[in-house]
Amino acid sequence: MFPTSLPRRNRRSEALRRLSRETSLSADDLILPLFVVPGRDREERIEAMPGVSRWSVDLLPPLVEDLCVPAVLLFGVPDADERTSCASAALDPEGLVPQAIRTVKEVRPDLAVITDVCLCGWTDDGHCAILTEDAEVDLAPTLDALAGSALAHAQAGADMVAPSAMMDGQVAAIRSRLDEAGLIDTGVLSYAAKFASGFYGPFREAAHSAPQFGDRSGYQLPPSSRREAIRDALLDEAEGADWLMVKPALPYLDVLAELRAETRLPIAAYHVSGEYAMLEAAARVGAIDRRRCVLEAMLSIKRAGADAIITYYAEEAARWISR
Ligand code: PBG
Repeated sequence: MFPTSLPRRNRRSEALRRLSRETSLSADDLILPLFVVPGRDREERIEAMPGVSRWSVDLLPPLVEDLCVPAVLLFGVPDADERTSCASAALDPEGLVPQAIRTVKEVRPDLAVITDVCLCGWTDDGHCAILTEDAEVDLAPTLDALAGSALAHAQAGADMVAPSAMMDGQVAAIRSRLDEAGLIDTGVLSYAAKFASGFYGPFREAAHSAPQFGDRSGYQLPPSSRREAIRDALLDEAEGADWLMVKPALPYLDVLAELRAETRLPIAAYHVSGEYAMLEAAARVGAIDRRRCVLEAMLSIKRAGADAIITYYAEEAARWISR
């Protein structure tokens, strides 16, 4: 006797599997992060992230010219002498990120340019906030600096700014600063549910943004908390975010799925540097099939509810699937 329901009937051929496929991955879903450094003719390979480099602005045009993904996410990585206790270089309208935005838009006006808005790359202590003398977050000047940085990016032509500092009220502060300046069309992609994660390790080498003392658990989400993450994300929606983000991606798919059910906004998931480094390391020793596992990871993130995935694999994956 066989069961009447044989689920594998729907899986018998590629054609039947195509018909019943619930989730698919497309180049349209992918956002490529790019690290930008000052100077000229400068490409610095990031040791912890094989295949990923920091680029000076003059090297961006050939890099973005033929991208087939719809969007890039820019990170400014200033030199050490530009970092101050009040992160002032992050607010410079002619600074590193505004220059990069203009350059990308010149070559590819059709490409969506999103910028990371945080202070950790610009403060001398590597924290995402401006701190008081007793090393507490000083919220008012922090929100002011984040809004000023977002304004500089928006004025240079960013399509969306992506605040990642996990400071309460940052979305509202940015939204009102942009609106006052008449930049009502610039969107806010909020790193709404960003966890205090060990998986950012390689990024901190990439962005030279490791905190000089303490850690980020005073402002980023505890990995043990799902409800708190949803609460935080919905506050960002109420403050006017246009997109929400969950970060990291694979270890937090439950949060992603729950947030998908709670909001009608589009959601991005950030497949972060440590997730990338793990796949690369496993592929390098021959433990996994690199391409297959990368695509499976991406598909899983979509299945859990992401509309877009920020990943260092974006361009490579886009080329695999559009061929
Ligand atoms: C800035 C920021 C971080 C990442 C994105 N924006 C690092 C952090 O919060 O420590 C991590 C990205 C990655 O690991 O790929 N605050």
